[in-house]
Amino acid sequence: MSKRIFITGSSTGLGRAAAILFADKGWDVIATMRKPENETELGQRDNIHLLPLDVTDAEQIKSTVAAAVAMGKIDVVFNNAGYGLAGPFEGASDDQIVRQLNTNLLGVMRVTKEFIPHLRAQKDGLFITTTSIGGLIAFPFNSVYHATKWALEGWSESMAFELKPFGIGIKTVSPGGIITDFISRSLDITSHEAYGEMMQKVLAMFSDPERQKNYSTAEQIAEVVYEAATDGKDQLRYVAGADAKAMYEQRLAAGDEAFRKGIEQMFLGA
Ligand SMILES: NC(=O)c1ccc[n+]([C@@H]2O[C@H](COP(=O)([O-])OP(=O)(O)OC[C@H]3O[C@@H](n4cnc5c(N)ncnc54)[C@H](OP(=O)(O)O)[C@@H]3O)[C@@H](O)[C@H]2O)c1
Repeated sequence: MSKRIFITGSSTGLGRAAAILFADKGWDVIATMRKPENETELGQRDNIHLLPLDVTDAEQIKSTVAAAVAMGKIDVVFNNAGYGLAGPFEGASDDQIVRQLNTNLLGVMRVTKEFIPHLRAQKDGLFITTTSIGGLIAFPFNSVYHATKWALEGWSESMAFELKPFGIGIKTVSPGGIITDFISRSLDITSHEAYGEMMQKVLAMFSDPERQKNYSTAEQIAEVVYEAATDGKDQLRYVAGADAKAMYEQRLAAGDEAFRKGIEQMFLGA
């Protein structure tokens, strides 16, 4: 019998690439997205089923998870939906902060919570969450995004202890830069006049083509999600992409404080 994966944020980018990869590998895929009515390709495949899901809609989480478990055993829940909030924290409105936390953090928690009783009853299953290298290190002007991704790393580490006795695994995939709609479409930007010059420096650093050369494709990161789903290892973190691996190794080698000073020097020339 084929295995089944439930994916959030499958309309574009990593979620979509994962839906296609798992389907190609013979899995049954439940691809959820905010507007399945706009999706013309994925739903054409026999082993991809579309369901509506906005991860900030608590009622829809309940109805969509119920519809998913009605299809049969769920082997993997891939919490992937998310977007970025960038710019000075002082310029962020309360709405912007709440929306970021609701989507990236509470969305993952609520979807996971809804699935746990089902995975516990089947004594098997795995949660995988897309965090970011930004869940293990921090850059300037991404504070609320980092807050969500660091929170997911800590939450997952704690949850791993709690779920293991029930035969349930939990893993994070922490990508570096991925060439997706994330920067062009999925980025909410704050501004504040006091931070103009500093912001320009940081933007120049992020948009440097040299830096972007090291980004991964969504398909490459989807391969890491597939590895995490199938390797059977008791491993929490999968740092994904050459850039992310290099940065994380540097942090571990240098130690938190020296690494932080290096980032300051790199972005702000301090
Ligand atoms: N791109 C990067 O450089 C990068 C790096 C590290 C981590 N990540 C993480 O990777 C994940 C996927 O991002 P991506 O790079 O593939 O970007 P993407 O192409 O913009 O995809 C983001 C997906 O999340 C969905 N989404 C946003 N808000 C949602 C909500 N409230 N409910 C349901 N779905 C929602 C979007 O759906 P709509 O089509 O409806 O907007 C879209 O399908 C995110 O968690 C992101 O934080 C990205």
